[in-house]
Amino acid sequence: MADAGEASKRVAREIGSLIRHRAAEHRNCVLGLATGSTPIRVYRELVRMHREEGLSFHNVVTFNLDEYFPIKPDAAQSYVRFMNEHLFDHIDIVRANVHIPKGTIELEAVPGYCRDYDELIASTGGIDLQLLGIGRTGHIGFNEPGATKDTRTRLVKLDNLTRLDAVKDFGGMEHVPLLAITMGVDSILQSRRIRLLAFGEHKADIVQRAIEGRMTSTIPASFLQTHRDVQYLLDDAAAECLS
Ligand code: F6R
Repeated sequence: MADAGEASKRVAREIGSLIRHRAAEHRNCVLGLATGSTPIRVYRELVRMHREEGLSFHNVVTFNLDEYFPIKPDAAQSYVRFMNEHLFDHIDIVRANVHIPKGTIELEAVPGYCRDYDELIASTGGIDLQLLGIGRTGHIGFNEPGATKDTRTRLVKLDNLTRLDAVKDFGGMEHVPLLAITMGVDSILQSRRIRLLAFGEHKADIVQRAIEGRMTSTIPASFLQTHRDVQYLLDDAAAECLS
């Protein structure tokens, strides 16, 4: 696909029709959501569909992939704030249906909290469609190099390259958190559909290795190759290195 805007609209349309389809059956639609610059246009299009086409999010349940740790929800860089600004404040989602890993829980409570997060996803029926970006380290969520295929939601250390990419948001490396809570690779692979978006030439090399390279925990995104309904939506620049 040549253009990031068109790729984003295509995913937004797929999400919209999934939501409507489920609503017609009086069922919930469970979405796995990502933050970062990549999905912003998808959220913009979903907001437009809500405003102009009457798309309702009443039957939608969401689980975000990750959150920095520790971080307060009202911090400028928190993913709670990001999701409110880009999506939740502009649609009719039931707030109790929104789930984002909490950046404020006590450290000793984190393992139990993470177990509960995975269990809640499962008891809600599992994720129908998971939206993903990809980091330059090959991470999905914050599953950095070294993350194995069987990982579940947990506390992780952020890779240095990932922290470097976050400097622009935090205004200095010393302010970028060292840790994050992330859904695991296995948590992600349980989703029924996976749509990974990647735009820009800075993603071209890692996209090529994730899609065409061998599966390895050095590039956690490569484990997506095992999934039976994964699509990679790339612009020309991100697809540049593919054979
Ligand atoms: C964000 C997330 C990350 C990003 C990735 C790409 O919730 O899970 O894996 O998708 O770091 O970030 P951007 O889109 O800013 O290039």
